[in-house]
Amino acid sequence: MADPSSVPSTVPQGIQIHQADPQRQRAELAAGLLAPQASVSPKFFYDRLGSHLFDAITELPEYYPTRTEAAIFRDALSDMAARVPAGAVWIDLGAGSCAKAASLFRAMRPAAYVPVDISAAYLTQALAPLRREHPGLPMLGIGLDFSGGLALPADAVRWLAAQRLQAAPRCVFYPGSSIGNFAPEEALRLLRESHAVCREGGAGSGLLIGVDRVKAREVLEPAYDDALGVTAAFNRNLLLHVNRQLGSDFQPAAWDHVAFFHARESRIEMHLAARQPQTVSWPGGGRTFAAGERIHTENSYKWEPQAFADLLQQAGFCMPVHWTDARGWFSVFWAPA
Ligand code: AVJ
Repeated sequence: MADPSSVPSTVPQGIQIHQADPQRQRAELAAGLLAPQASVSPKFFYDRLGSHLFDAITELPEYYPTRTEAAIFRDALSDMAARVPAGAVWIDLGAGSCAKAASLFRAMRPAAYVPVDISAAYLTQALAPLRREHPGLPMLGIGLDFSGGLALPADAVRWLAAQRLQAAPRCVFYPGSSIGNFAPEEALRLLRESHAVCREGGAGSGLLIGVDRVKAREVLEPAYDDALGVTAAFNRNLLLHVNRQLGSDFQPAAWDHVAFFHARESRIEMHLAARQPQTVSWPGGGRTFAAGERIHTENSYKWEPQAFADLLQQAGFCMPVHWTDARGWFSVFWAPA
């Protein structure tokens, strides 16, 4: 595969890569690791291997969100298609394998597909077969870390204009409950930015978003601590990614996977706990960890539907509609802009 960073933004494939500034990444990582409560952002899960491990998680019997959301899309598809306008520009946040959006193309009839993902390499790979299957659908992949702010890059706006789609409605698609990685205040900010992206499009624009719901601990916790240890591998792989980014010498086998539901905060927390006392070094820094000391790697917030509907309206959206599954485990919202 060609190095995506060497592909100019004007090539017909339309792949556009915004490389994260490596120096800033290193500073961010070091600051998180040196804080009294060490932490690494969950965005560092998603190198190429991490993206594949996440895809494996979605196949696990304990990990209900992906298949529950898929069932909601299956059951409510015609209802959804009556609300989401045909001919919209689909902006797929955290697109990953692009499989979810692609499964909706037939029903939703987008005019263009703009997947956004932090892992540009994974996105490039995922888009190639999709372009062959949908030769008439213009696609522009954007490698972007939108946790730092969501706005369509100028090149993407120019690309839409070249397709004569600047006035088309926009559907911001954010499935999978990835919004759960953000604390409520940050989630509100991202939803406000999504609202602004919708408003730059034509009438009928809106946000189609999947949200995981509060439920029994007995269901929540195994979903993040599965019997095969795939989630543990996903969690530990973050250390390999950090080693490459920061030049650190973490030994993944020296860390235990920890996952639990924090009911008061309404979130799953994932951590890595040091098995024994150890020192980790990187160029210009380092830290000693006591046995049992943790690195916080992820929050996954669970929402009550009413609270999430309120959040959407606070972000500027109109009254949303939502669909759920028979057990009430997951919700998909359509929020008109
Ligand atoms: C991709 C953020 C939705 O929180 O369920 C899965 C990530 N972490 N197992 C989630 C994840 C551990 C996932 N999201």
